[in-house]
Formats: sequence, structure tokens, C-alpha cells
Amino acid sequence: MSEIVYIEKMAYGGSGIGKLPGGKVIFVDGAYPGELVEVDVLSEKSDYAIGNLEKIVEKIPERRTAKCPYFRNCGGCNFLDLKYEKQLEFKKMVFMDQLERIAELKLNDLYIEKSPKEYEYRLKMEYSILNDYSFGFKMKNSHKVVSVKNCIIAPKVFGKILEKLSLTLSHFKIPIYNFKRKKGLLKHVILRYSPSGEVMLIFVTKSEYFKEGKKIASLIKKEFPFIKSIVHVMNSNDKIVLRGPYKVLSGDGVINYEFSWEKFQVPPTAFFQNNFHVAEKMVEFLTKKLDLNGNEIVLDLFSGLGTFSLRLAALSKFVIAVESSHVSVKAGRANANINGLKNIKFIEADALDYLNQVKEKFDVIVLDPPRAGIGPEAIKKILELSPQKIGYVSCNPTTFARDLKLLLEKYEIEDIRIFDMFPQTYHIESVAILSRKNNL
Ligand SMILES: C[S@@+](CC[C@H](N)C(=O)[O-])C[C@H]1O[C@@H](n2cnc3c(N)ncnc32)[C@H](O)[C@@H]1O
Repeated sequence: MSEIVYIEKMAYGGSGIGKLPGGKVIFVDGAYPGELVEVDVLSEKSDYAIGNLEKIVEKIPERRTAKCPYFRNCGGCNFLDLKYEKQLEFKKMVFMDQLERIAELKLNDLYIEKSPKEYEYRLKMEYSILNDYSFGFKMKNSHKVVSVKNCIIAPKVFGKILEKLSLTLSHFKIPIYNFKRKKGLLKHVILRYSPSGEVMLIFVTKSEYFKEGKKIASLIKKEFPFIKSIVHVMNSNDKIVLRGPYKVLSGDGVINYEFSWEKFQVPPTAFFQNNFHVAEKMVEFLTKKLDLNGNEIVLDLFSGLGTFSLRLAALSKFVIAVESSHVSVKAGRANANINGLKNIKFIEADALDYLNQVKEKFDVIVLDPPRAGIGPEAIKKILELSPQKIGYVSCNPTTFARDLKLLLEKYEIEDIRIFDMFPQTYHIESVAILSRKNNL
């Protein structure tokens, strides 16, 4: 059944939102706010419907031709057919809408820090491998993989490396892992890039047995000497792409990043922010806005390998960095050493477990949780610890709004900003600086 729908808003996730003639809300992928579209109603629930975009009757002038031939087939990008400024405007709209609906907080305006690079910005790409030894990405809402020669948001050099790798893997007839039948060996290939020009190549296999690994590594290294490290990660878990013990096949097993202030060594399985220039701006914003005077005790929850912790340590008295990944904690300690910072302690722990037993008081708490946010139990503990300031870094506006609503009982927003870490996609990264209300 076809309907004509006016798209009023955008949902977090990138779909356009409109109303069917009866008033029921409908989500339409690929349609933008301000457009009149013809949709095929695919499914209807009691309170909303899902529609397929059939035809754009009236389009917004900010539409453009996507520079990528895989767009709408590959599940990676959402907005390649939309001018960058308009992407930012829509992200702002989505973020403010989430805060208003979930946290009951109405922002009058919001600053967005743009990404200096619209394309080729991603530092880490995780590739699926097809049986013909080509590489690609999952389609949206599907396990099917679309083969992609050159991804427009990845560093250009990745395409060249993959071309050679495809021939090499095929030459050695490396069995590609079949996720349905749970047979085969090679699950993923991952490339990490540093603006210094270094590259790290990672093979993720189902089992330990990868006897051709060293030979393949040496052939690839010969062709691309700038590949500083080649690593073999063994991961039997099919739900998570990059996790597990690893062996270094070539090089020293780390990739180096250098911000204006600190240097970081990143091991293959540790988290590192994906857009270098935006990450640096985000660290600068958070640490400056916390207005540290050198006497504070700071807790950095979900610290990773110290992206925020090191700068916080340079500006305060002492930092406790809490992180659950063993590899990241080890890297964090090494990074503190490399940067000559002694006033920082990395603790390997689950954030909630740590909060449940901590006795110390903190002047400042910084938190940068995964997409699930931090949750009511941990927020309750933070409210009890009652730091003067909180810096909340979020990669999911929905869970951020849920957590923020609870924090607003005792805190007020001093500053809040979006950092466009992921141009062309619906993802929204934000930083909020909260300060304790005077009388609490
Ligand atoms: C979004 S990353 C942020 C890392 C770091 N702040 C940075 O900017 O590089 C989230 C981090 O939280 C860690 N993590 C995930 N769940 C955790 C938990 N329950 N307790 C502690 N750390 C956790 C992950 O290993 C990851 O390093």
C-alpha cells in the first residue's frame, strides 16, 4: 500500500519520521526532514509503521549525488547523499530531540564541532571477507556482506593493501570462516591507520591455527614497508569482532598516535577514538572546560588506554583511571610512562564494581561509557560520591539522555557540545560538562 508522507523529523538511526493519513508515525529510511515522499508501508505495529521509500516527490535542495557506488547497499554510511552542513543540522535536531523527550531538557541551541575531514577520516576499519577473497561490510539489518573495493571514509591506502592481501590470501587458499556453519579460519581483517603514516594490519581467526600467518605477513610487509605491525588475534567469540589473545607476526605490535600534548601506543585489541582530529578537539574541550587548577583528585571511568586520563593527569593532582580491558590497562600504564606522568593509577575493573566499593572522594568524575551508557545503578553511586564536576562523553544520545535525566537532580549543565566523530553516518558523539548545584 502506497502513501504520500511529509517527513517532519529524523530519528536517531537516520530514518525520516512522518505521519500516515490516520496520524500513525512512520519511519522511512533514506527520506530527510522537509521532504514529501511516496512510501510503501512494509509493516504496521499498534503505535508505528515502517515504510519503504518508493519515490521522492519533493526533495530538499541539500541532497547531492553520493560519491560512493555502494551507498544504500552497504550498511556503513547513512548520509552520503546529503551535504555535510545539513548532516550536522540533522544531528543537532536528533540530539536536541532526544534530550527534550528523554531528559526533559530543552536546549536553545547547540554547538557542533565539525570534522575537518568529511571523508577518509576513519582510523580503524573492520572488514568481513567473502569467499572470493574480496573484502566488504555487512548490509543494513543483514548478515549479508557487500564487497567494497575502496571505502570513501577510510584512508585511501587501505584499498591498495586489501588488493594485495586478497591475492595473497587466495594464493595460500586460507579458509574463510563461515559464520552460519561455524567452519573455516579467517573471520576478519582489520586495518588501523595513524596520521603519522603508520598502519597496523590485524588478522582475526576463529582458532589458534594460522600457520601461513608469518609468511603472509612477510610478503605484505615487503610490498608495504609502512605497515609497522602485523598481528594475529585469536577470537572464538562470533559476536565480537576484535577481542582475544594475540601474537605479533611482524613489528612491535603497537601503532603510535601523537596528539598535541600526549603520545599514545595502541595495541591491536584496545579501543582508540576513530577520528584523530575530532578526538583531539574533544580531549581539549573536556579538559579545558573542567577548569582544573592542579589540586583535584579525578576519577576517569571507562578510561581505555588513557586518551582523557593522561591530559587530566597533566592538569590535576591525581587521576584514577578505571577500565575493564586488560590490554587497555596495560597500554594505559605504558602510555603514562611514555609521557612521564606519575600521578595516575590505572585500575583493571568493571566500572560499577569499582563504584560499589570505592571509599575515596573525587573532585571530578569523567565518564566515557560504551553505547549502553552507564545506567541508573552507577549514576546513583556517582550522585552519592557527589563530585564538584562531571564530564560525560557519550556515543549514544538515547542512553546519554536517560543518564543525564538522573544526574540533573543534583547537577546542571555548564557546557554541552556535539563532536562530529563520524561524518556520513548517523552516529552522534557528545561531551557535557556538569557542575553540582550550589546548595546540594
Ligand atoms: C568508548 S570507550 C572510551 C575509552 C577512552 N575513554 C577513550 O577515549 O579512548 C569505552 C571503554 O570502556 C571500556 N569498558 C566497557 N565496559 C566497561 C565496564 N563495564 N567497566 C569498565 N570499562 C568498560 C571499554 O573497554 C573501552 O575501553
